[in-house]
Amino acid sequence: MTEPISGFSKLTKEEKIDWITSNYTQNKEQSIKILQTYWNQNSNIQQLHDEFIENTLTNLYLPLGIAPNFLINNKLFAIPMAIEESSVIAAASKAAKFWLNRGGFKTEVLGTEKVGQVHFLFKGNFEKLSSFFTSLKPKLLAESTSLTTSMEKRGGGISDIVLKNKTAELKNYYQLHATFQTKDAMGANFINSCLEQFAATLKRETAAYDGFSDEEKNVEVIMSILSNYVPNCTVRAQVSCPVEELQLSADLSPQHTAEKIIQAIKIAQIEPYRAVTHNKGIMNGIDAVVLATGNDFRAVEAGVHAYACRNGQYSSLTHAEIENGIFTFWIELPLALGTVGGLTNLHPLVKLNLEILQNPSAEELMQIIAVAGLAQNFAAVSSLVTTGIQKGHMKMHLLNILNQLGASDLEKGKLVTHFRTNIVTHHEVELQLNALRK
Ligand code: MEV
Repeated sequence: MTEPISGFSKLTKEEKIDWITSNYTQNKEQSIKILQTYWNQNSNIQQLHDEFIENTLTNLYLPLGIAPNFLINNKLFAIPMAIEESSVIAAASKAAKFWLNRGGFKTEVLGTEKVGQVHFLFKGNFEKLSSFFTSLKPKLLAESTSLTTSMEKRGGGISDIVLKNKTAELKNYYQLHATFQTKDAMGANFINSCLEQFAATLKRETAAYDGFSDEEKNVEVIMSILSNYVPNCTVRAQVSCPVEELQLSADLSPQHTAEKIIQAIKIAQIEPYRAVTHNKGIMNGIDAVVLATGNDFRAVEAGVHAYACRNGQYSSLTHAEIENGIFTFWIELPLALGTVGGLTNLHPLVKLNLEILQNPSAEELMQIIAVAGLAQNFAAVSSLVTTGIQKGHMKMHLLNILNQLGASDLEKGKLVTHFRTNIVTHHEVELQLNALRK
């Protein structure tokens, strides 16, 4: 059995690779070779990646592609997407092209408020705590000025701090619930630094407050941390066209297509099993751009799914209606993003992707990413209610299957042609490849 290791992080990269491949892989030489194959040839770039995290061995890369032809508020964008799923960029591009000739996407930022909380325990009288908070609040703000000055210069800062009594849900539990504006930064570091300062001020001031008993003076700060739930940092994107322009397949009239799409959305609104897959498809588009622009997709995922069940049941992020013969399809979702700080200034590809997007502000990026999610959902739902998803999906997946089976370029060419008019299944691809080889 492999022994535990101490001091792993202090080993050199080569020593770490030696240890992991000796202890956890069958073929050490081959494993080392695979890890090294993914090293960047440019040692500066490799060092950059090595230093993003601890214990880096190599890089795991995803394909980065472009979905062109997105008309957003009358401006054309080509959207970089980092994703491994074969059909996502094709679907986004198809939706972009479809709406390009129908007025494009219209977007609007609904809010940009970020949230952070100091969670603490107070054993005592709430009225006293509440009146103490009135005098505490200006001190919380004053003692954070060294942290907020440069954010304020950029137009952001602390918007408000309120005291929340949560004792009905958890004994002795209170919060300093703070709201922030962070302009083009995602703001996690700014918010967390402010919160830790609030916590220190809270602790010191409660201990010194004459109006409190000894027990009341002994406030216990449990933690200080931003929230990735940002229901007031939201964006809306929409498309619309006369119903008769919704011709998506030869077999279904535009009116019937519109009605089926609306029905599909209604199902995703009331049926969580469907809603999760429906929203997963939206996140195919969202995450791909979030990743390509160096943003935190886990934060976005967590916030989006919490928002999707804000009314007590997990539900669709998109909506659709027909009114006066006009089909409208829209998305509303929270997106906490940054276009400065973090990886955005550091990672050369992220910088390039932001340049391709015309160096957007955080608000502009929210709108672009909401569009990517809406386009993805439009493509998925319109396939689902017409031809079904597998036709397009398997066509895109064909190359993965052929690569898995070790097909040569010549074989790939012949089989791609063959499967233009035949149904792709793993078994059928295998049969055809074998037949070709005979
Ligand atoms: C697959 O990654 C995403 C879909 O399942 C989304 C959907 O069903 O709406 C196609």
